[in-house]
Amino acid sequence: MSNSEQIALELDRVSKSYGPLVALRDASIRLKRHSVLGLVGENGAGKSTIISIVNGTRAPSAGTLKVNGTVAQFSSPAEAARLGIATVFQEQGLVPNLKVYENILLGREKQFSRLGVLNSDGMAAFATLVFDELGLQIDPRCRTGDLSFGQRQLVEIAKAFSLGHLYPVEPIVLLDEPTSALSDQETEILFASIRRWKEKASILFVSHHLSDVFEVCDDVVALKDGSVSGQWRIEDTDADRIHEAIVGRPKLAGYYKEAEQRLVPGAPVLVAEGITVAGELDDISFTLHEGEILGVAGVLGSGKTSLAAVLSGTKVPSSGSIRLHGEPLSFGNQAQAVARGIGTVPAERNSSGAIGVHSVEWNMALPSLHKLRHDKAPVLSAARSASMAQGWIERLGIRTPDRHVQIRNLSGGNAQKVVFAKWMERGVRVFVLDDPGRGLDVGAKEEIYALLRELAAQGVAILLVSDNLPELIGLSNRILTFRSGRITSEIATPPAAKPDEATVVRGMV
Ligand SMILES: Nc1ncnc2c1ncn2[C@@H]1O[C@H](COP(=O)(O)OP(=O)(O)OP(=O)(O)O)[C@@H](O)[C@H]1O
Ligand SMILES: [Mg+2]
Repeated sequence: MSNSEQIALELDRVSKSYGPLVALRDASIRLKRHSVLGLVGENGAGKSTIISIVNGTRAPSAGTLKVNGTVAQFSSPAEAARLGIATVFQEQGLVPNLKVYENILLGREKQFSRLGVLNSDGMAAFATLVFDELGLQIDPRCRTGDLSFGQRQLVEIAKAFSLGHLYPVEPIVLLDEPTSALSDQETEILFASIRRWKEKASILFVSHHLSDVFEVCDDVVALKDGSVSGQWRIEDTDADRIHEAIVGRPKLAGYYKEAEQRLVPGAPVLVAEGITVAGELDDISFTLHEGEILGVAGVLGSGKTSLAAVLSGTKVPSSGSIRLHGEPLSFGNQAQAVARGIGTVPAERNSSGAIGVHSVEWNMALPSLHKLRHDKAPVLSAARSASMAQGWIERLGIRTPDRHVQIRNLSGGNAQKVVFAKWMERGVRVFVLDDPGRGLDVGAKEEIYALLRELAAQGVAILLVSDNLPELIGLSNRILTFRSGRITSEIATPPAAKPDEATVVRGMV
């Protein structure tokens, strides 16, 4: 085999501009056949842009793309698919109302039809075959919308890998932050599958978790501001070197700002009693105090995400009560929750955190229109709204050409910062965060952590649901562990005596 045949994918000095914004500059990257190449970088560094160029969604402004040694100029994603290029997007692309097997074969049903009649048994059998190979226990005949977010992510990944069965080509699979929505257990399934599938495919893997990169990648490329800032074989590098290439400076000590943790939280703000949701939460009672960060730990299905949904008004318990500043809070009433000062960053941010077609400014302004009015007339003050948006863009380092850009044109992490900005502008008194670090690069996480400390210092009460144990332990004043819908332990986490991970895990399993 000649050298070029061993390279599945090559970008040679590829650049991409969106108007005046240069998203990618002279990037040269090689993905070896039957290997996994990690792609890391800050929010907005250009990772998803590389993926969209490789899969034919966008054309590069300059440079060449080669697939299996041959120059490729795609004019559509379908052309890229015929060369075996399949993508698992950062935002989910599955249609919720279709059956799982219909989604697996969406756009490729023709291979399963005769005389215009679809062979649905054949399609379902095909999906079963693909799932079996990946070790997934998902019923291909169930409605896609009934699966959990993590399960849907695994279906998308299975869909991408299934290309190899449908076309006589070796798949090149592009995974854009595949683990950010997965539980630890699902991540393990994915990694095992990737290792197995490497024999038949080549994989480009975008992640913000360096631990993922060390677990499955053979090589790693770091991007900074659209340029390649580092490139190594995995055995020739370490986490500190990669971190420095991503952020441009060494990792700071005190990542979780433990020194700023409030020692004595204030008065009770939110008192939950006997919250029960059939099959999800069983008699949950706790008190959240002013200036406190209360961590909630648990595995998938433990009830931790259900609890966040109850507090934000998107899930209605069958019994129990919540009092906020002493007054009862109605269940299932999102508008009331917002009006009474509860801000939420949900786990599924793309569907419920921000409105994609609206601008950065409008998303930030929405819950705060009452503050942004003219003094003399009941209309929005353009000047106030503009300076509000500009202020947050600068303070949170939101990478966007300007405040008018639609949220859907922002990178995933930057869109998430807009969700934070909107609640901080609103001046929430209670913040319910479900996995707030998800999709954020190491630098942005650090900024968000500093913000949470600042909010806590101002007396905001924060309920922090997270899968990330170092983050939970580092940030929280106390941690409640959940198992099968019940609170199994309460762990104090003072700054000077943080528990180790094993202590928290004991309450979870
Ligand atoms: N359609 C678009 N129009 C204008 N700017 C865009 C568009 N798509 C992306 N950008 C900009 O290009 C830059 C690179 O974005 P990209 O999505 O590639 O980042 P990323 O590395 O994937 O970030 P993240 O980790 O947050 O997902 C960002 O500044 C983003 O705002
Ligand atoms: Mg991205």
